[in-house]
Amino acid sequence: MADATPLDDLKQLEGQALTQLQQCADEAALRAWNTQYFGDKGVMKTAMSNLAKIPKDQKPAYGAELNRIKAAITAAYEAALADAKEKALQVSLTTNPLDVTLPGRAPARGRLHPATQILRQIYSIFADLGFQVYRTREVETDELNFEFLNMPAHHPARDMWDTFFTTTPGVVLRTHTSPGQIHVMREAAGKPVRVILPGMCYRNEAISTRSEIQFYQVEGLVVGEGVTMADLKGTITAFARRMFGPERQVRIRSSYFPFTEPSIEVDIDWPKDDPNRDRLTKGTGWLEILGAGMVHPNVLRAGGYDPEKVTGFAFGMGPQRMLMLKHAIDDIRLFWQNDLRFLKQF
Ligand code: PHE
Repeated sequence: MADATPLDDLKQLEGQALTQLQQCADEAALRAWNTQYFGDKGVMKTAMSNLAKIPKDQKPAYGAELNRIKAAITAAYEAALADAKEKALQVSLTTNPLDVTLPGRAPARGRLHPATQILRQIYSIFADLGFQVYRTREVETDELNFEFLNMPAHHPARDMWDTFFTTTPGVVLRTHTSPGQIHVMREAAGKPVRVILPGMCYRNEAISTRSEIQFYQVEGLVVGEGVTMADLKGTITAFARRMFGPERQVRIRSSYFPFTEPSIEVDIDWPKDDPNRDRLTKGTGWLEILGAGMVHPNVLRAGGYDPEKVTGFAFGMGPQRMLMLKHAIDDIRLFWQNDLRFLKQF
């Protein structure tokens, strides 16, 4: 039997390559095969370098055969690779079926708390009227919460505010946003003032459907030369109509607050077509929305203003109460209970 020629060796190489290729079970095995044959130290490289040792007359045939084999096994490899990928896809589709027609999972969307929403609505109405938003602290001294607001110690009007006292003598949780009036005036130092003061207030009250121990207020303060009650009425009316509808009528009743003189309470007429009208207005058709008045001279003085030169008006409203009116919410306690069934409705 004659010795195997270099061409025979190539033939054998081809057969072996194809056999091994067929035995590759998956993509990883195929890639290993590829490295074995076409890698830097691969079988095909070695076969290439053998060319140098081949007798000259056999070189062209050997080279041609080598190229043919290279192309043939490359094509076989690529077909096998595509096949393996297709099989892997089928396996993943059947073992882990994906129903592309299912609706996606909507990410839970957060939203603003209803109290924040109504506050922002109030800010934007007053911004249109030229008011700035001014925030002041929630912990106040007795002086600011009461005394500078024309309520010296033992003044009976203090009974209107059930106060939380801290363990530090003379320091209280503010019972209303009115102390902010003093802060603003002292900071404005004689310049005209036109601000709203939103914020949390605290009262030591029995919790019920109508009263909570913490609630928002929005205070308003305008100070300057020639500010009159007519300005107060105009501002409140403009606000009420934007907040509750352009048809709203405003009714003013006389009232009492130590820090305003004269003092008023403001009602709005409630829409006749609201089925809750009778219940909300206790049959009167009118609903109180805020307290207000002309800033008392003693308060102007405490703020550093001269009541002979300037006048001012102030008002205080409960934004949560307004939201309750707008949406016929009958329990103020819902606001801070964090019950999503309630919060999601806004
Ligand atoms: N501070 C008052 C209250 O809490 C409301 C108010 C503010 C009244 C400003 C008049 C002027 O009841």
